[in-house]
Amino acid sequence: MKPELRLRCNSTLYHAGAERRAACAIPLNMSDFKRASRWWRSETIYQIYPRSFSDHSGDGVGDLEGIRARLPYLRDLGVDALWLSPIFASPMKDFGYDIADYRAIDPLFGTMADFDRLLAEAHEAGLKLLLDLVPNHSSDQHAWFKASRSSREDPKRDWYIWKDAAPDGGPPNNWISNFGGPAWAWDEATGQYYHHAFLASQPDLDWRNPEVRAAMFDAMRFWLDKGVDGFRVDVIWHLAKDEHFRDNPPNPDYTPSQPEIERNLQVHSADQPEIHRIVADMRSVMEEYDERLLIGEIYLPLERLMDYYGEGGSGVHLPFNFQLIQTDWHAQKVAALVAEYEAAIPEDGWPNWVLSNHDQPRIAARTGERQARNAALLLLTLRGTPTLYYGEEIGIGDVEIPPGRIQDPWAKQEPETSRNRDKARTPMQWSSKPHAGFSTTEPWLPLSADWQRRNVAAMTGEGSSMLELHRSLLHLRRQHTALSTGDYRQLSVADDTFTFERCDAQARFAVLLNFASEPREVALHPAYEGGAILFSTDAKRTGAANAPFTLGPDEGVIIQGDPPS
Ligand code: NOJ
Repeated sequence: MKPELRLRCNSTLYHAGAERRAACAIPLNMSDFKRASRWWRSETIYQIYPRSFSDHSGDGVGDLEGIRARLPYLRDLGVDALWLSPIFASPMKDFGYDIADYRAIDPLFGTMADFDRLLAEAHEAGLKLLLDLVPNHSSDQHAWFKASRSSREDPKRDWYIWKDAAPDGGPPNNWISNFGGPAWAWDEATGQYYHHAFLASQPDLDWRNPEVRAAMFDAMRFWLDKGVDGFRVDVIWHLAKDEHFRDNPPNPDYTPSQPEIERNLQVHSADQPEIHRIVADMRSVMEEYDERLLIGEIYLPLERLMDYYGEGGSGVHLPFNFQLIQTDWHAQKVAALVAEYEAAIPEDGWPNWVLSNHDQPRIAARTGERQARNAALLLLTLRGTPTLYYGEEIGIGDVEIPPGRIQDPWAKQEPETSRNRDKARTPMQWSSKPHAGFSTTEPWLPLSADWQRRNVAAMTGEGSSMLELHRSLLHLRRQHTALSTGDYRQLSVADDTFTFERCDAQARFAVLLNFASEPREVALHPAYEGGAILFSTDAKRTGAANAPFTLGPDEGVIIQGDPPS
């Protein structure tokens, strides 16, 4: 290989940025900002939907003891941090996203002792544990809301958002609930409306009230003191609403097949400028501790999403990046969004990627299994922290939910939009034993039709399986820092293919993806000619990388290039 043909890896960019930032005066109240908290840059997050992961108690719903029993599996899979969807006391109207006590474990999932054991054993196994903080709203069964609705004079009245009726007796403004219908519920006893961005049983807390902020920050400290490694914060961009509660403008592109929330543009009901102060305060709470991670759930256009990194890094560490969930699965589109995202990210921000979650269709349901293999390769080789969603590693696809078994409150409230989040929340499939080894009884949601072969036991050791593909990729990420924290550079986009490289001072790798179901030829940069093929989504691929390189149908590969000069 001729040295002059070698690519120069732009590996100083990120480090230089980090140093600049370290030298900067930190604005807001971030003076004690701790710069060591970076473990998530090289690690992989794994989302567990606790109801559906592993049922130890035998009631058909997953629990903490079930998760604990699966720690060896998770460690062996090669993920690093577990994010648990809510496990707190809840009437389960929205399956835990309606919290009745921020400091208690719901008995359905176990006890506080179970939680403490899980946390300790996860840490012993080298796994981090992240909880799901739901600060925008509580359950209407929370003691705070019970007090708030008890009378207009109650000291907790202004912990929630109460308004008089409009002159016609209707709701105070035109805001729509994310699950359809008005975002206001009438309280007969006290003669006012309260605001709820989701179900009427999920009243929104008033984050302009300092007592609310203090109470929620204390709830965070309660878990941080126990040693949890961070939070994923539910709908964080909802915390600040327009102080004048103005009507949202109509959405000119709305079609009736869309969920009702799309009828108006969410201009005033969320993402107000005050949000960044709130997020910075939340971040300050995290900074009272070492090495804790704050992730924000944010569905916003890219430029607004970026603001959540915060001035001087005072925002969330990772504003969830849902671009891959929202795009059509085409080489050009995916390449373009990666380029756009990479260009938009602040110098001191760290990227993150995700393919699906408990609110979105599973990736294999969207793309089919063959492209889902490529999607896994992409997720685990892009620059940034990946979040895997449980079941993705065995390629669970579309699961039919018979009408009588629908659980999702949104699907029940808006059946005509055919949105049903249950499809992405079905039980993890562990073996070909009854109920897929998930439970000893009928699970709360059905299994996928192919569970007898699509399960962890059947796919373990099966070289070409989706599970082994994930294990190999996660192993490679751990082995080569270039694949996790290295620089990213697009190499080419053409003819259904997208290729890019990752490199650091030690090594460089090219990732080649074919989005078509026929073979495609790609140009190979000389730095990769004759290089070793480290990985292919096609288990039968052998040999070295010759130019021009032909990718098989739906194939993705990683080629190791010459070491950077
Ligand atoms: C976002 C959560 O991901 C979703 O599952 C939930 O229904 C809403 N927030 C309300 O908490």
